[in-house]
Amino acid sequence: MKFKSLVLLCSLLAAADLALAQDIDAVLADTKKTALPLLPKVVGAMQSAVAAKGTAGAIPVCRVEAPALLHEMRQQTGWNIKRVSLKTRNAVTGTPDAWEAKQLALFNVRAANGEKPEQMEVSEVVSDGDGKRSLRYMKALPVAPVCVQCHGPAATLSDELKAALARDYPDDRATGYHAGEVRGALSVRRPL
Ligand code: HEC
Repeated sequence: MKFKSLVLLCSLLAAADLALAQDIDAVLADTKKTALPLLPKVVGAMQSAVAAKGTAGAIPVCRVEAPALLHEMRQQTGWNIKRVSLKTRNAVTGTPDAWEAKQLALFNVRAANGEKPEQMEVSEVVSDGDGKRSLRYMKALPVAPVCVQCHGPAATLSDELKAALARDYPDDRATGYHAGEVRGALSVRRPL
């Protein structure tokens, strides 16, 4: 190939790369704009459930309402959206895959180094095979004061709550948290 056409080809490829990067940035911004309003909704649902029914009485609400909000958003967008954690209460819906588990572990390392969970997020374009790709995005869910009522150290939970958790979630691992830690993450997988 002549030098000139090689230079032309390189600059075309560089331009295509840049266009792609800009596209991904736009898709990421759109993903966040769509998915992140879920978070205050879930926290708000928790708060009003606890206020209205007491901590143990709010368990059925958490069991139904937070998953329902996620389900609604999956229906609206067609993306895979879930809440994941390294220590699950509901292992069926909350168990992370390998990529998510790695990111959650990195969030924990960052929190241990003093970073605020509120600011933690990560995104990556991954291959799905067959030339298809997805954008993966994760946003940390910090342990707020209301969360420790149901996810705090076992010794701080009421007997009534412990009984309710033992009944509904015999394999519960989601206790022992303190405010300011990373409880888990919102995870989005969006086909490109
Ligand atoms: C009233 C009790 C209660 C409160 C308060 C509460 N949770 Fe939970 N949490 C639950 C229950 C019950 C589940 C299991 C829901 C299910 O079956 O899908 C759960 C599940 C989760 C999960 C999904 C992963 C898993 O472990 O199964 C995350 C993430 C989570 N909670 C984060 C939070 C955060 C963050 C807060 C505070 C904003 C919070 N929770 C407050 C009861 C509570």
